[in-house]
Amino acid sequence: MSGSTIIPWVVGNWKMNPMQANAKQLVQEFKQLLAQHDIPAAQCHLAVAPVTIALTTVQTALADAARPVHVVAQDVSRIAGTGAYTGEVSAELLKDSAIDYVLIGHSERREIFADDVAAVQAKIKNALTAGLTVIYCVGESLEQREQGIADQVVLQQICDVATVISAEQWQQQMIIAYEPIWAIGTGKTASPQDAQAMHAKIREGLTQITPAGQQIAILYGGSVKPENAAELAACPDINGALVGGASLNAESFYQIARAFADNK
Ligand code: 13P
Repeated sequence: MSGSTIIPWVVGNWKMNPMQANAKQLVQEFKQLLAQHDIPAAQCHLAVAPVTIALTTVQTALADAARPVHVVAQDVSRIAGTGAYTGEVSAELLKDSAIDYVLIGHSERREIFADDVAAVQAKIKNALTAGLTVIYCVGESLEQREQGIADQVVLQQICDVATVISAEQWQQQMIIAYEPIWAIGTGKTASPQDAQAMHAKIREGLTQITPAGQQIAILYGGSVKPENAAELAACPDINGALVGGASLNAESFYQIARAFADNK
């Protein structure tokens, strides 16, 4: 038990997976596991982030789950409102579809889709203004870690967006996810000691930025699996997990959630 008062979050990032039929099956299996052995909502928040076209169907399918399982968009437009922006989905449109959460700044978006600081700032600003809760992803590359600048890179990523977030929004609408890029999809997890050390740095940085710093959930992401979830969950500043690959298997995702619910 870590003694933290923050209720942990376990969030499945499905990325550009799975096909509709598999998504449906995944949701059904996960609901069955929750129905058999519930994870009380007071012990762990649960959420999944499907592809945009599946947000509403997954949300509908989860509506009769034994407990709330929130639905998260994987990205949002840097443009607010509505208008002639082919291919974009704004924060207001997400909110209008009853989607209340969004991932912003995932390293895959930063690296592959060139989301720079200005884009990330605009997305966060729009999302918060529309009333969404943001899961803001930060993390260093292997090269940056080897150069000894991991802390600096991650804290800069937090400072980059601090100007667009009010004290009230930090308190009510922000979650941080630390995802070292070298641990994503590689099977290599940061050791609990290294992850805790970075989370403590992030916590320290947050408390300098906002009075809400002690209450903001900081999730760890990067090859989280049932086998390593309990020891990550036992770290005092790790308040949950952002799970990629392992969230595509209902049993694995359930076991990770169980580990966080039991070890916090
Ligand atoms: P993996 O769990 O597959 O490493 O992915 C982590 C991630 O990027 C979640 O957002």
